[in-house]
Amino acid sequence: MITLIVAMDEGHLIGRGNELPWHLSGDLRRFRQITMGGVLIMGRKTWQSLPGSKPYLDGRINCVITRDPAKYESSTDGCDEECGPFFFDSIEAAVAFSRETIQKMTREIFIMGGREIYAMALASGVVDRMLITHVKGTHDGDVYFPEIGDEWVGRLDYEDKREGLFEVLDYVRRPKEL
Ligand SMILES: NC(=O)c1ccc[n+]([C@@H]2O[C@H](COP(=O)([O-])OP(=O)(O)OC[C@H]3O[C@@H](n4cnc5c(N)ncnc54)[C@H](OP(=O)(O)O)[C@@H]3O)[C@@H](O)[C@H]2O)c1
Repeated sequence: MITLIVAMDEGHLIGRGNELPWHLSGDLRRFRQITMGGVLIMGRKTWQSLPGSKPYLDGRINCVITRDPAKYESSTDGCDEECGPFFFDSIEAAVAFSRETIQKMTREIFIMGGREIYAMALASGVVDRMLITHVKGTHDGDVYFPEIGDEWVGRLDYEDKREGLFEVLDYVRRPKEL
């Protein structure tokens, strides 16, 4: 199972200046809980925008897609071996590595952005499920999620009842009509 995970506002905005356009601690906590122990596939720009001093998100295997993987080899120095980051020159190579890894360790695979990697993953057909945090309102920014096709149908998975700032929908492919 490959899950795409994203937070977007009502205008499909996902990023601003290579950062998130908002700070939603409740959603970040959920992201951590859901992805913990799994494999993360992300673009080089998203990888470079990770918060904190470590070049990976802990407790997860970090796979980074770049056209120039060799350039980043040295940045694995000093990292936790299991977390990576591991660099790949295509989504197919990252997915093949991730599938092989989860076979050994029973982990889940998450596509975690940004826009270029979401677009590539959706076009390649590898995405089985999308967990989308719908953030209320519109914000300023410069990176948007691609169109969500009619083939996807979402059901409510979580509601931020405390502050009413977001809700999470779980999208799967609409069953084909007979
Ligand atoms: N709201 C959310 O849930 C969420 C989640 C993640 C990210 N974001 C936001 O999204 C923004 C970043 O998204 P982005 O679209 O600008 O960048 P991105 O998708 O994170 O990374 C783009 C990079 O991926 C590599 N790449 C793209 N296509 C490739 C291909 N065909 N083959 C090999 N490598 C390829 C390239 O790296 P090289 O240049 O190294 O070759 C490219 O520069 C940030 O603002 C971030 O905060 C939001």
